[in-house]
Amino acid sequence: MPATYVSGTAPGALPLVGHAWPLMRRPLDFLRSLPAHGDLVEIRLGSVPAYVPCHPDLLRQVLFDDRTFDKGGAFFTRFRDVVGNGLGSCEHRDHRRQRRLVQPSFHRTRLEGYAEVMADEAARLSASWSGGRVVDVFPAMFGLALRTVTRTLFSAHLAEEEVARLQDSFRVALGGLFRRMFVPGPVQRLPLPANRRYARALADLHGTVDRLVTAYRRGGQDHGDLLSTLIAAREEDGRGGLTDAEIHDQVTTMVFGGSETVAAALTWSLYALVRHPEAARELRAELDAVLGDRAVTPADLPRLPRTGQVVTESLRLYPPAWLFTRVTTAPVELAGRRLPPGTTVVVSPPVVHHSPAVHLCPAEFRPARWPADQPGRPPRDGFAIFGVGARKCVGDVYAMTEATLVLATLCHRWRMECAPGTDPRPRPLATVQYPRRLLMRLSERGPDTARPAARPCGTRG
Ligand code: HEM
Repeated sequence: MPATYVSGTAPGALPLVGHAWPLMRRPLDFLRSLPAHGDLVEIRLGSVPAYVPCHPDLLRQVLFDDRTFDKGGAFFTRFRDVVGNGLGSCEHRDHRRQRRLVQPSFHRTRLEGYAEVMADEAARLSASWSGGRVVDVFPAMFGLALRTVTRTLFSAHLAEEEVARLQDSFRVALGGLFRRMFVPGPVQRLPLPANRRYARALADLHGTVDRLVTAYRRGGQDHGDLLSTLIAAREEDGRGGLTDAEIHDQVTTMVFGGSETVAAALTWSLYALVRHPEAARELRAELDAVLGDRAVTPADLPRLPRTGQVVTESLRLYPPAWLFTRVTTAPVELAGRRLPPGTTVVVSPPVVHHSPAVHLCPAEFRPARWPADQPGRPPRDGFAIFGVGARKCVGDVYAMTEATLVLATLCHRWRMECAPGTDPRPRPLATVQYPRRLLMRLSERGPDTARPAARPCGTRG
C-alpha cells in the first residue's frame, strides 16, 4: 500500500515577508519546528508559497528526481549572482556535461594527493599558533580551507591579503543573497547602501577569480589539476566545451564550495568538542594512541574512526548547508499534493537530521551513533548533509578528508577553551551557517589527567 503523508501549513506567516523573520533570525529552530505540522509543510518565502519536505522519503523523492525538481527557486536564482552557471547552480539540462568534466578531479587517486596538501596546511596553521593566544576560529579555518582548495584544484598559492579579501567578499555577497530572497526585485535595484555593498562584494569576488585564472593561463603550465582540465575542455572542443565565462563560474563555484562550508564544519566541530569534554577526551585518547608524538599524515586516516565520527556528528547537529531550493519543471505529486510547474520546494537536511524518526535522541551530541569503519567519508544512511542523487556534493569525500585531518592535527597539539567575546549563535542571514564569533584560547597539550575541564562556551547543542 502506498504511504500516506500528511501535509500542513506553518503558522505565523506575515503579509509580504511571510516566514522571512524566523528563517533569518532563528533558522534552525524554525526549520526543526516544521515536522510538527506535517510531512510536507507549506511556508512563505516573502509572498511566494514554498513546500518543505519533512519526511525522509519525500526529501529523497525531491533530490533523486533532479529533472522534475530542478535547481531554481528563490535560493538558486540569487545564488547565480554569486557563482553564475557553475556545477552547483546550473540547471538539469547542463548538469551531466559539467559533472563529467569536474568529477575526475575528485577521483580517489586525486584525493590521495590532495590529502598531503590538507595535512601540510593543517601542520602550518598549527605551527603558527602559540600557547596563551586567542584564535578567532572561523577566519582561521576559512583561510586554511581556501588555501587548500586553491592549492589542490588550481595549483595557486594565495597571498594573505587575497584570503582576507575573499572572505570579506563572500561574507557580504552571501549575506546579501539571503536578504534578497525576501526583498522584491525593484527594491534590490535601488542605490541603497546595502545594495551597493553587495554589488562591490560581487565585483571584488569576480575580480579575484579573474586574476587567478589569468595568472594560471599566463604560467602556461599543465599542472594536471581541475583548472587545466577546464581550460583543456575549452581548447579541445569548440562546440561542446566550456566558454571563458563557464570556466570562471566553475572556479568561483569551487572556491565557494571548498572554503566556507569546510571552515564552518571545522568551526562547529571545535565548538562541539569544547561543549562536550567527554567526547574531546575520547578524541584525544585516539590521537595519542595512534600518533604518539608524531604529526598526522593521510595514512593515519583509517585509524582515526572517532575523529571521523566527531566530524560527522558535528555536521549533523550544525549543518553548514542548511537550506537550498528546487523548482518544479512539470506537474508532480508530492505527499498527495499536486504541485504545478514553477513551484518552489525548500530542501533542508537538518529538518530530517533532527527528527526522532531518523535518529535516536537527535538533540544530543553522540559521535558514536555513526559507523566507525570509514573515517574521512560520509556515512551512507541517515545523512543528507551533502545532498543525495545526481546533484550530491562532488566534494563530499574531499571535505570529510580535510575536516578529519585538520581536526586531528589541531586537537593533537592544542587544548582549546572558549574566550570571552564568544557568541556561538549562527550568523543571521548566512548562506552557510557558522557561529557569529568563536574565540578560543589555546594551550599546549600535556597529559590529559593533569588538566582541569575546559571552560564551557555558549548554549548551543
Ligand atoms: C562540509 C563541507 C560541505 C558541505 C556541507 C557541502 C554541502 C553540499 C550540498 C548540500 C550540496 C548539494 C546542494 C543541492 O543539492 O542543491 C553540495 C553540492 C556541491 N558541492 Fe558541496 N559541500 C561541502 C564541501 C564541498 C567542497 C569541499 C567542494 C569542492 C571543493 C564542494 C563543491 C560542491 C559542488 C561543485 C556541488 C554541486 C554538485 C552538483 O550539482 O553536481 N562542496 N554541497
